[in-house]
Amino acid sequence: MVDKALVQKWIAETGSDASAAVPLLQAVQNEYGYLPREAMNIIVSETDISASQLFGVATFYSQFRLEPVGRHIIKVCHGTACHVSGADRINTALRQSLGIREEEEDTASNGSYTIEDVACIGCCSLAPVMVIGGETFGNLKGADAQRSLKKHARQHGEFLPGHEEEISEADAPEKKSPDKRKKEVRP
Ligand code: FES
Repeated sequence: MVDKALVQKWIAETGSDASAAVPLLQAVQNEYGYLPREAMNIIVSETDISASQLFGVATFYSQFRLEPVGRHIIKVCHGTACHVSGADRINTALRQSLGIREEEEDTASNGSYTIEDVACIGCCSLAPVMVIGGETFGNLKGADAQRSLKKHARQHGEFLPGHEEEISEADAPEKKSPDKRKKEVRP
């Protein structure tokens, strides 16, 4: 539910011509995590910004989201060091765990997690890197990312849709060979 008085306050502080579109959208997104349609309508009806101008700005800048985000954000670094170290494999593994199949989607169907690709986060020596909440995970393979996500979910009372934690063979940790020592047989 959008707080109309709050949006009006932002408009009063920011202005109502076209140059206010970006700061107003930023204020809305900071408050709600995305741009609810209701908030956009309030801005259009109470400023000189037209619906097409506002929607144009909202879709032009990648920082703005028109859909709700998950309760937790997973930031996957796609800076140069992380990119060459396999950041795409981290995305693939996380999407697998979260059951996200459509290419244009980035949020689990149960609203638990959203995957966000970000630029360098400043710890390139740990590439590839992801951040969940305030915690940074580095030197990741797909299976590490899946395990860290599973642990985070357990700690925060979330579940992964379908429990699809299929760890690809390539990323799976080496299986320990069975202990070949024979048990002592007592007569
Ligand atoms: S490129 Fe990923 S932390 Fe710098």
